[in-house]
Amino acid sequence: MGDAQSLEAIKSALGDKSIVMVGLMGCGKSAVGRRLAARLGLPFVDADEEIEKAAGQSIEDIFSEHGEPYFREGERKVLARLMRSGPQVLATGGGAFMNADTRAAIAERGISVWLKADLPLLVRRVGKRNNRPLLKDGDPQTVMQKLMDDRYPVYAQADLTVESRDVLHDVIVAEIIERLTAPLPSARSEEAQ
Ligand code: S3P
Repeated sequence: MGDAQSLEAIKSALGDKSIVMVGLMGCGKSAVGRRLAARLGLPFVDADEEIEKAAGQSIEDIFSEHGEPYFREGERKVLARLMRSGPQVLATGGGAFMNADTRAAIAERGISVWLKADLPLLVRRVGKRNNRPLLKDGDPQTVMQKLMDDRYPVYAQADLTVESRDVLHDVIVAEIIERLTAPLPSARSEEAQ
């Protein structure tokens, strides 16, 4: 899969909706999303970067100067705006999909793809950088496990789940393209009615 015809079919089924990458820090949302956008010939947008632009501050500074609730409110507003500007591939920050308004906007105007990863992979990946405020309070492995417990049941509401693993990003991209070519569960149940 992934030939020009199926890529065009995905784009025409998408219309002006967005493909929205969801999942925990380190699962590869931006790296995979960027490559997926390039394959599909769509713009790639990183929600965290858009939040930083809107605030004129880095995410680290927003957290340290204003606190997490302020960041979450900014994140919700930026996501509401971005969801009106498809088609695009949009990488969200790990907490964005936890907001019910954001999930509703994504359900209405997007196709969500959860990159599901296990704990060792996430811990290894986030260990490469020290810029994530949530991982600064305590042992990253413990924090990440708690985030998995809280968030995985919610991420599971995404339209598609793809296992993120230690393979080239292009392998994951090919898998997403293959999954997008098949009818979505929602489209299938409509057909069955
Ligand atoms: C967060 C994830 C980060 C960033 C912020 C909070 C989270 O984005 O939005 O530090 O709550 O999981 P990435 O998932 O892109 O690292």
